[in-house]
Amino acid sequence: MKISQLAKSLPESATLRLNEVARQLRARGEPVIHLGGGEPKSKVPMDAILAASSLLNSGEIRYTPSSGTVEMKKAIIRYTEEHYHRVIGPEHILVSNGAKQAISVALQAILDPQEEVIILAPYWVSYPEMVRIANGQPVIIYSEDGRFHPRMEDIEQAVTSNTRAVIVNSPNNPTGIAYSREFIEQIVRFCEKEGLYLIMDDIYNQLMFDGKKFANCFEFSTKSPDDTNIILINGVSKMYAMTGFRIGWAITNPRLIEAMDKIQGQTTSCPSALLQAAAVGALNGVQDTVESLRISLQNKRDVLVTELSKIDGVKITKPDGTFYCFPDFSAYEKDSVKLAQMLLEKARVVTIPGKEFGFEGHLRISFCGSIKDIVEGVERIRWVIDPSAPNEIVIGERKLVRDWL
Ligand SMILES: Cc1ncc(COP(=O)(O)O)c(C=O)c1O
Repeated sequence: MKISQLAKSLPESATLRLNEVARQLRARGEPVIHLGGGEPKSKVPMDAILAASSLLNSGEIRYTPSSGTVEMKKAIIRYTEEHYHRVIGPEHILVSNGAKQAISVALQAILDPQEEVIILAPYWVSYPEMVRIANGQPVIIYSEDGRFHPRMEDIEQAVTSNTRAVIVNSPNNPTGIAYSREFIEQIVRFCEKEGLYLIMDDIYNQLMFDGKKFANCFEFSTKSPDDTNIILINGVSKMYAMTGFRIGWAITNPRLIEAMDKIQGQTTSCPSALLQAAAVGALNGVQDTVESLRISLQNKRDVLVTELSKIDGVKITKPDGTFYCFPDFSAYEKDSVKLAQMLLEKARVVTIPGKEFGFEGHLRISFCGSIKDIVEGVERIRWVIDPSAPNEIVIGERKLVRDWL
């Protein structure tokens, strides 16, 4: 039976595929260390659980308005005032099944066929495919000097009469770096001047380290919430470790919200009532879990950076936030897929090849797992690639000898 060209052209999500490989290896009893994950392992806030349980116990869990419940929008309004100092109303909000759906619906609402969206490399794996699903063309910008921070000139030069939007994610998946305030200011001003949408993916904005704060895009905007070209994306997945709850949101001008609402309403009706209730509980509840998560991630970041620096020749850019680090392994192997495969085969360590994020020679290494896994995982990586590492290692029950270097 027929499968559409679009579906055939989409690659499988590399991260989800590697999760599955890790799961299968573990099921066979293999001592896998997963350094490829994209979700914190801390517990969901109690306020979220209580709020969801209370609705569940009522036995009345129904459809909600397609753009989200009144309570959820109130919680987002409060969150936006507190963290962005921006006063918005319910007409500026669309609640979705995760930030991912909010971005996808936004792209479907703004793009006509073949219109272009600028994406800054290294980028989150899903952006180019979400643009393609919305019939658009992703245009990837690489910084000339191989740094993780794109230059404004490169972005300006990429704009054509077909460009509709720019996507910015800071702090960034996969690098963990936060773009500078100056850069966010420039991009906000540039998009306003050129009449481009700016999709600001702030999903990691609460998870920043060393006293650094995320740059608030609204601070640099001259436009009111009613005519803004910024589409601000956020959600509960990362800051509250609520990835499985699938609640995220978009904040933008009411005309676009209306358009997005129609698309969402015709495809998924609404985000789940139960999970919105949980998200309201998390947003309105005690916030100490966010700070505990942030501190524990900062500590794990330090452990990962220390361990990685023991591998000769690996270049590390210290993450400002998130739970990802994106070291450069090109001194050992330029082909990141080959390297990730080798680490999995020889040492049972899962990492994500930089190629998936548009950046060869790098691997994305997550530090959202346990410190034990981080230390042992990096020790195994070093054993596989670094000739100065001891020749023998114990993995699981087996003592292995390196004979390939
Ligand atoms: C940059 C970025 N944006 C959005 C998302 C999706 O978040 P959600 O779980 O809310 O769909 C992720 C998840 O990995 C992400 O890394």
